[in-house]
Amino acid sequence: MTAFEDERNRLRERVWSFLDIKQGARYLDIGIGHTAHSLHKLLELGLDVTSVDIDLDVLRKHKTRKAHFVQGNAAALPFKRNTFSLSVANFTFHEIEPSLHNAVCSELCRVSKKIMIIEPSISNEPIHRRYQNIWTKAMHSIGKFEDYQNMYYWTELLRNSGAKIVHTEKLSSSARLYGQEARNYMKSVVEDMREEGVSEKYLKEISGLSHVIETRGMIFSDIDVVIGHVSD
Ligand SMILES: C[S@@+](CC[C@H](N)C(=O)[O-])C[C@H]1O[C@@H](n2cnc3c(N)ncnc32)[C@H](O)[C@@H]1O
Repeated sequence: MTAFEDERNRLRERVWSFLDIKQGARYLDIGIGHTAHSLHKLLELGLDVTSVDIDLDVLRKHKTRKAHFVQGNAAALPFKRNTFSLSVANFTFHEIEPSLHNAVCSELCRVSKKIMIIEPSISNEPIHRRYQNIWTKAMHSIGKFEDYQNMYYWTELLRNSGAKIVHTEKLSSSARLYGQEARNYMKSVVEDMREEGVSEKYLKEISGLSHVIETRGMIFSDIDVVIGHVSD
């Protein structure tokens, strides 16, 4: 395993170490995504999982009998108050239209007792900042979102929706993606963008950055974890 993969795994394990595992309790996974890390992790732990996504294709791709699937906008959830012990939004909020953030967060606070937001922060590293900017512009060009924020933004969002912040943590990245590993990684990034329907302009921009990453390396942004508790 490379240092980059090793760090990724360690950071993910740290994220999942914040879950309170209560068998029999219900867990809400907000945003399934193409790789569905959070869904797979919650299922691996044997939990009762409900997954919500606005995108029907993503739901179809990961549909399994082991979880409940709901297609819809997280800004208007079809669940009763306190249905879930915990709602997890793992790398989801930056893909949600920012004007909906308050509504989504209020809904999470209504339907669950605890909320966990995990988000990549705005990078301080120049190459990764360029990488993030290309993603943001590319997604905006197709009417989607990839809008990164700092920890303060997520903390205030949750607090303003009525949650008490019980934990925040910044998980630092230091492993550099470079060389052949960067080439392979960036190839799949270009493919992902192509599948999303992004124009040649942005595919060229991200491919141009690949060479820089291969030779100089890129350190990914830190990961921000914010956990809030909603009192009855
Ligand atoms: C990056 S993915 C989530 C990653 C996933 N949680 C994981 O751990 O791999 C973000 C998902 O949020 C979904 N999404 C965006 N806006 C949404 C909304 N308003 N309501 C529900 N889902 C939304 C997108 O369709 C996308 O599948």
